[in-house]
Amino acid sequence: MSSTDLSALNSRFAIPGHVQFEDGPGGLTIAEIANSHAEATIALQGAHVMNWQPSGQEPVLWLSRFGKFAPGKSIRGGVPICWPWFGPHAEDAKLPGHGFARTVMWEMLETKALPDGATFLCLGLIETDATRTQWPHPSSAQLRVTVSAELKIELVTCNTSSAPFQIGEALHTYFHISDVANMAIRGLEACTYLDKVGGSSTRKTQRGPIVIESEVDRVYLDTEADCLIEDRGLKRRIRIATRGSRSTVVWNPWIEKAEKMGDFGPEGYRGMVCVESANAVDNVVTVLPGTEHILLTVIGVEALT
Ligand code: BG6
Repeated sequence: MSSTDLSALNSRFAIPGHVQFEDGPGGLTIAEIANSHAEATIALQGAHVMNWQPSGQEPVLWLSRFGKFAPGKSIRGGVPICWPWFGPHAEDAKLPGHGFARTVMWEMLETKALPDGATFLCLGLIETDATRTQWPHPSSAQLRVTVSAELKIELVTCNTSSAPFQIGEALHTYFHISDVANMAIRGLEACTYLDKVGGSSTRKTQRGPIVIESEVDRVYLDTEADCLIEDRGLKRRIRIATRGSRSTVVWNPWIEKAEKMGDFGPEGYRGMVCVESANAVDNVVTVLPGTEHILLTVIGVEALT
């Protein structure tokens, strides 16, 4: 972004003691948020939350040190937005996996300092001919983020057309953990999931907490309880609460897949796990004309005693 555009952005949306806009890695424009509760970074490309670190904590989100930051390329880590479909497109394999929202430009719509010291930001997806070709349904997408001791993210889809449409979506959150061997995920016990490892999709039932000892790629269906990532190494529990999200995706590429992906770095897969608040597979959402659907996730950190 040119320095004129950056100063225009700052003069409209910067708030001293809360948020300012800068040139980030790979020339991406980023919002740097720092308030009395936490720090965070959001790239305007993809409305991508890259970091969130509550005061006194290690970073809660994992961001690859080997990621490639470039226009039109999804960032490996943080919270990529999968929208308006999750995974491969149902009919056209040439369309990008997980939709286009994570690689296109979003614009700032609002920033606000909240009375409790939190910072609120609202971004809107910029429609272009390319997005309209891939998604020919009149609609709008917004991301509302509240940065505080908790991180609240709302993905809002509004149907402005006269016909219903179906969306798949996910807040594809990469969590930073001490080591995958020190970690268990609770909250999905007894849920049915689609096991996608090896390209097949077998339905299974979760028995007990999730531990990761090999590649894991699962879509849990009809999930309701909070998900808890218990990290014995960092002695903390990350709590993920949701609303308007009926699926939870759990993903760790493990050794071979991470090597093939090229942006994880050696052993990168050991320090992360994705727990994604989603609506996918059986849980895609029908949005009726003139209505909106909100996928909400609230992430908090608790001490593990
Ligand atoms: C997960 C999918 O949500 O995202 C996996 O379940 C996929 O199948 C992973 O490999 C990463 O996707 P991408 O497109 O960001 O490399």
